Amino acid sequence: METPTATASVVDLEKQYLLQNYARYPLILHRGDGPWMWDVDGKRYLDFIAGIGVNALGQNHPRIVEVIREQAGLLIHTSNLYYNEYQGPLARRIAETSGLARTFFTNSGTESTEGSLKMIKSHGRSIDPEKYEIVSLENSFHGRSLGAISITGQIKYRQDFEPLIPGVKFVPPNDIAALEAAVNDRTAGICMEWIQGEGGVMPLDDAFCLRARELADKYDALLCFDEIQCGVGRPGVYYAYQLPTPHVMPDIMTAAKPIACGLPLGIITANERAAKSIRPGMHGSTFGGNALGARVALEFFDILEDLLPSINRVGDYFRETLRGMAKKYDFITDVRGYGLMVGAELAMPGKEIVIQAMHEGLLMNCTHDTVLRFLPPYIITEAEVDYAAEILEKVFKRI
Ligand SMILES: Cc1ncc(COP(=O)(O)O)c(C=O)c1O
Repeated sequence: METPTATASVVDLEKQYLLQNYARYPLILHRGDGPWMWDVDGKRYLDFIAGIGVNALGQNHPRIVEVIREQAGLLIHTSNLYYNEYQGPLARRIAETSGLARTFFTNSGTESTEGSLKMIKSHGRSIDPEKYEIVSLENSFHGRSLGAISITGQIKYRQDFEPLIPGVKFVPPNDIAALEAAVNDRTAGICMEWIQGEGGVMPLDDAFCLRARELADKYDALLCFDEIQCGVGRPGVYYAYQLPTPHVMPDIMTAAKPIACGLPLGIITANERAAKSIRPGMHGSTFGGNALGARVALEFFDILEDLLPSINRVGDYFRETLRGMAKKYDFITDVRGYGLMVGAELAMPGKEIVIQAMHEGLLMNCTHDTVLRFLPPYIITEAEVDYAAEILEKVFKRI
């Protein structure tokens, strides 16, 4: 089989044979090591976007490579007709770290959202057929399936596919009065990201999340936290809802991106009250939780435990570095985030900065048009932050 390596042929083939839904950067990556990546021409890049928050241990992590090699030689996939040795131990690890009881394994964030919606719907219906409303937030992002865009509070993701699931109400993030007005006896679920990712790295207020918990309890609705981007170590704790003490516990938590270090694996994790909304035969997945993905995820959780302190330390250092730059460059209007989920709000569109940084050897992206978003691997050091800062400084000066 012909293997195209020249940039032109890769791009031409994609233009001819792929759905034209992505606006890719003109970069063909070939290999990686830790937080470093090389393109097909051998040029090196520091990766501060990590496959949109997926490559939490960077590339080529020796322990991950070793378990993939070993497990691939033993067993990759069996379907969920049978047990494999890893789903149970992995679900126990998730229960221990999350405080929630039961997990369902999916293949992506969107699929986790989709399953959580089925749980919410089934929960509501078991109480009253009229209890089907879902309250979600403006500016949110929950994935690309019809269910997920139904609760995604950004018109650009929804407009071409309407009408969507009925009964969804959107309230502005952190508007407690609007939340109180939206939730009632017909509400089956309330969904939110503790830190909105696609929406511009926007953390919610603790008081808002606490009120959502109280309203869910009052009206017997399920509270679902989407931790697909903001969870599983990225905020410097296992899950973003653990940032405040005491924690505001959800009934359902969805997560995905970093869990299997680049293999497709997502989770829906629920307390017993929410878990009983799914009974035998009501939901399933052919690939979800296969032996390879589940074993890698188990290894990832083992490694993650020791990384949490440095995620906080290096994340704080990075934010401080960016705040230092904000003093010099007044187009940086805010620097925010937790752990290694970092956003820098600009007074102008950020796309050009992203492109110039890429040419200088730094990968990141821009979300919500004006927010530089950094989701680096959890293994980065202060020295690598300094390297990134030098490139940013060079680009900011030029801009
Ligand atoms: C908060 C959030 N929810 C859901 C998704 C969808 O996940 P996936 O792209 O894996 O389907 C994303 C993806 O970026 C996300 O950030």
